[in-house]
Amino acid sequence: MVVRVGVVGASGYTGGELLRLLANHPGVEVTYVTSREYVGKPVHHVHYNLRGYYRGLKFTEFRVDELSNKADVVFLALPHGVSVNYVPKILEVGIKVIDLSADFRLKNPEMYEFWYGFKHPYPDLLSKAVYGLPEIHRDELRGASLVASPGCNSTAVILSLLPIVKSGIADLSRVIADVKVGSSEGGAKPTPGSHHPEREGAVRPYEADGHRHAAEVEQEVSRLVNNSVKVSIIPHAVSSIRGVLTSTHLWLTKDVDDVELMRYYVQTFSKEPFIRFVKTVPPGYPDPKYVVGSNYVDVSYAVERRLGRLTSFAALDNLVKGAAGQAIQAFNIVVGFEETLGLKYPPLKP
Ligand SMILES: NC(=O)c1ccc[n+]([C@@H]2O[C@H](COP(=O)([O-])OP(=O)(O)OC[C@H]3O[C@@H](n4cnc5c(N)ncnc54)[C@H](OP(=O)(O)O)[C@@H]3O)[C@@H](O)[C@H]2O)c1
Repeated sequence: MVVRVGVVGASGYTGGELLRLLANHPGVEVTYVTSREYVGKPVHHVHYNLRGYYRGLKFTEFRVDELSNKADVVFLALPHGVSVNYVPKILEVGIKVIDLSADFRLKNPEMYEFWYGFKHPYPDLLSKAVYGLPEIHRDELRGASLVASPGCNSTAVILSLLPIVKSGIADLSRVIADVKVGSSEGGAKPTPGSHHPEREGAVRPYEADGHRHAAEVEQEVSRLVNNSVKVSIIPHAVSSIRGVLTSTHLWLTKDVDDVELMRYYVQTFSKEPFIRFVKTVPPGYPDPKYVVGSNYVDVSYAVERRLGRLTSFAALDNLVKGAAGQAIQAFNIVVGFEETLGLKYPPLKP
């Protein structure tokens, strides 16, 4: 079976990464790519890395009637607040949507006013959307019409918390996630803060008084433990291009030794195709450098026994497991492909 796929917002970073990964996906033909700025230009005009791929495919302006003749599934790689206007129209013509923006991640419409500053125009669709983190929503993803693909920081923080929420060994009412992020997280359009001379060499906190990805982390983790979980995310811009590292800090409420802790991590992740528990592999901690280019997430932990502090670590590539790779993993499940199809390759080194 070959599924015809459209990518809307294909000239941006996550759109380009979708095209890079889909280029070798054996079950997909990319038939439709959009951009407002590059209408009529071939894919490689923007994405130089894709020279030799997608011959003849040109950017077009997005139109639902055109899409409906060309695609079975569409990935939306658009800014938040933009996707929301397209999704109902696309669903109406029977095309499945994998949305990489935040527009359908939150179940409570009021949270959009608080975190994103807009009133959600389609609150009824929020309950229909499946939060596209396969590690916790695999069953609901099968056959889903609308997938809200998680944020990159949220993916790292939620996965770092999974072994702990499942074992009930720590206080979840005051979790602090210290997150380091590469510059591609900000998208392809430069801003004064992301312009190369300003960003290179930076180690800079931002949105430290409340990062919006906390909303989806709290939603998903609270649901898992059936209790209100509070998470503070403090992102730091660092000078790498790709990569997210979270050090998620918690306080233990039970005396657990290393054997038990390791068992929780191994049990939580042993069947997950893209999660590697690296505690026992030197140097014992994850580093985005060794997942870049891949859909892997490396996880580990450390305990400061003197204080009862537990830190759970996760590293991923924000454009792959944090965006395009995760979206394709969810897509594979939605359409009934093997979950890892087109995604199983090792990270880059050095
Ligand atoms: N970057 C990451 O690491 C990352 C990770 C996870 C999720 N996400 C989410 O993924 C989405 C895309 O992010 P990105 O980093 O790929 O952004 P980006 O590089 O800025 O790309 C945005 C794309 O959307 C198009 N676009 C922008 N405004 C539009 C509008 N008003 N109407 C139609 N098309 C519009 C742009 O092309 P034209 O201007 O040519 O139309 C471009 O193709 C965002 O919602 C982001 O939050 C990003």
